[in-house]
Amino acid sequence: MRLLRLSLRFVLPLGIVLGVIAFGVIPLVDSLELKWFVRDLDMRSNLMVNTMEGPLADLLVSNSKGKIHAYFTRIIQDERLYALGFCDLDNRLLYETQAYPHDVTCQDTLGLAPDSSTVRSFSRGPIHITSASIESNGRSLGRLLLLHDMSFILQRSSDTKWYVFYLFAGLAAVVSLVTVLVAHFSLKGWVAGVRAMLKGERLLTPLKHEEHAPELQPLAKDLRSLVQALETDRRMRDESQISWTPTSLKKILHEQLAGDQVLIVSNRQPYAHYWQDKNIVVQVPASGLVSALEPVMRACSGTWVAHGNGSADREVVDERSHVGVPPSHPTYEIRRVWLTAEEEAGYYYGFANEGLWPLCHIAHVRPTFRSSDWKHYVAVNERFAQAVYEEAKTDNPVVLVQDYHFALLPKLIRDKLPTATIIMFWHIPWPNAESFGICPWREEILEGLLGSSILGFHTRVHCNNFIDSIDRLLEARIDRNSSTVSYGGKMTAVNPYPISIEWPLQWLGHQRPVQECRIKLREMYGMPTDRLIGLGVERLDYTKGILERFMAVERLLELQPEWIGKFTFVQIAAPSRSVIEQYHHFTGQVSALAEQINKRFGQDGYEPICLRIQHHAPAQVYECYRGADVCVVSSLHDGMNLVAKEFVGARDDEQGVLILSQFAGASRELTEALVINPYDIDQFAAALHLALTMPKVEQRARMQSMRGLIQEFNVYRWAGRMLMDAARMRQKERVMRQVGRPSL
Ligand code: F6P
Repeated sequence: MRLLRLSLRFVLPLGIVLGVIAFGVIPLVDSLELKWFVRDLDMRSNLMVNTMEGPLADLLVSNSKGKIHAYFTRIIQDERLYALGFCDLDNRLLYETQAYPHDVTCQDTLGLAPDSSTVRSFSRGPIHITSASIESNGRSLGRLLLLHDMSFILQRSSDTKWYVFYLFAGLAAVVSLVTVLVAHFSLKGWVAGVRAMLKGERLLTPLKHEEHAPELQPLAKDLRSLVQALETDRRMRDESQISWTPTSLKKILHEQLAGDQVLIVSNRQPYAHYWQDKNIVVQVPASGLVSALEPVMRACSGTWVAHGNGSADREVVDERSHVGVPPSHPTYEIRRVWLTAEEEAGYYYGFANEGLWPLCHIAHVRPTFRSSDWKHYVAVNERFAQAVYEEAKTDNPVVLVQDYHFALLPKLIRDKLPTATIIMFWHIPWPNAESFGICPWREEILEGLLGSSILGFHTRVHCNNFIDSIDRLLEARIDRNSSTVSYGGKMTAVNPYPISIEWPLQWLGHQRPVQECRIKLREMYGMPTDRLIGLGVERLDYTKGILERFMAVERLLELQPEWIGKFTFVQIAAPSRSVIEQYHHFTGQVSALAEQINKRFGQDGYEPICLRIQHHAPAQVYECYRGADVCVVSSLHDGMNLVAKEFVGARDDEQGVLILSQFAGASRELTEALVINPYDIDQFAAALHLALTMPKVEQRARMQSMRGLIQEFNVYRWAGRMLMDAARMRQKERVMRQVGRPSL
């Protein structure tokens, strides 16, 4: 059909042009040509008559017949001149050359005006006849007839006709072809441009000026904003219409991702096996990442690739290093990757936690970069890429890569599985471009991350910082409107996806009523039942603002001594990364400050700070959340902080107060918390006082609002949004592959 249309576009104009040539141009050229030749012959005949008139008149007067014949024969040598004749005054043909045609009589030419010519057709073809009177001393002697053969003119005319025909036909064909091609391509380009714009394709990546349809550029800009606004609107509507549960997440996987395989990669595994008194016990690590992703994985099934760091991990896996979890009712598998102590020291403790961790958190701890650590970081990322490749059942699984331990992994996976959908989520903040620029391997890290299809951060600020870093350090095409980066022929969408917790919380199912938890908590720490308790729950990490919160407790007791003996701050601190000097030192600082404050304000068995540096199982932690009056999250800098959300989630009695650092991502969502600057100790102490004295009705109002938000924006929605974006991306890529264009 396309071919027919194309040939019609070519044949039709060509036919019209040929018709015009055959019936208009050629007859016109023919008659013009004939006129030119006759005029040419007229001039030639006149010239000959002028030359011959004198000598011929003399010969006629002398009546020398023989000489006249000889003269005629000599003149006739001119090959164009066909014959000569002489008519006397009585119109008798007196002399003629040999080939003179006898059907051209003197009578016939009588009608010709003197010295004029005519063209007559004879059986041998057309003949040009000129009749000229010959005089001597003013007396007419007769008429000279010059006969020119015009058959050569016919031959020439026919040659010319064909020449003109071929020339014009050729020109017409070339012009038609060029016209058709130009029309075809420009129309196609224009239509494609408009179509693409209307469909929203390439709107996320504006056309370069030199690409086709530059006239659409101003229109494209407006359409782009419009499509984006509609897209955001649609996304929000789509999302908000779903009630986010494990079931709805599963449904998205099956409907939008056609049940495609989902792989998660993180350094920390959701369940670790340890030896304890010759028995193997299972431990859930203190990790926001794990508490967010574990419920997602239970909903999605699939495989979780992680470092096998437990002392008994090897005992429980099969020959492919797989183990089914959760241990009580397995729904998905962990694929454990084994690292040597040296690899762990370089990759995890070294580059990830002494380099990237302080680099990304503004906590005033200097990052340390060692090339030996970097080598291990590269090698371990390669090991995990290989593990993902081995686990992939198809060419294009959906791979969810987690955190700063794997900055290089997206690109390494992309090299092995070019059509995989890679979602990278960076759980910690991204610093501003200037701070990030101090990393010696900054370009490699950015290139690694740009292997992702989607790169997620908790907040828009972190997305913008990342895009600014790209702008400063790589030659990439950035579209800030659509928040996309195109690099090396591949596009990465950089979006905020604020992480959250599961809802409803699985740990609440086994919890006692709040009143009992209150009693239990106080019993556990040997406190009277009316003691007001502030609670902190974290890994022992210098970014968490633990020292600052102890100082705030101290300041509170200084400023309002009525709280002495009535208020205790319980700090649950899971040991973390303790082989790193800064963490070791920090642990010492925290213990020393707690001791110092307890010494200063402690009395009769009362200690204002109760520090417990040990691992707590999730069920224990939830009991603490439910038994406390105030929960403090005072991070100096934090991507999100899920402790804040867990505390709110745990309080189904709608009581309790959350004090939250303005430097934690969670403060953007949980605005009903008492938001503080952890560096401002007086303000912090005032917030503690406010929290401890807050009326129950106000606590309820604040808690209800925060719980509503977490219920709506739970972790299934977090994962679902990323997977829905991935599904849209995969759909678009499929269409692009079908039409033979790689999507950018
Ligand atoms: O905050 C970043 C993060 O990876 C969290 O997602 C997680 O809670 C924590 O660090 C775990 O740290 P680690 O695995 O080093 O104990």
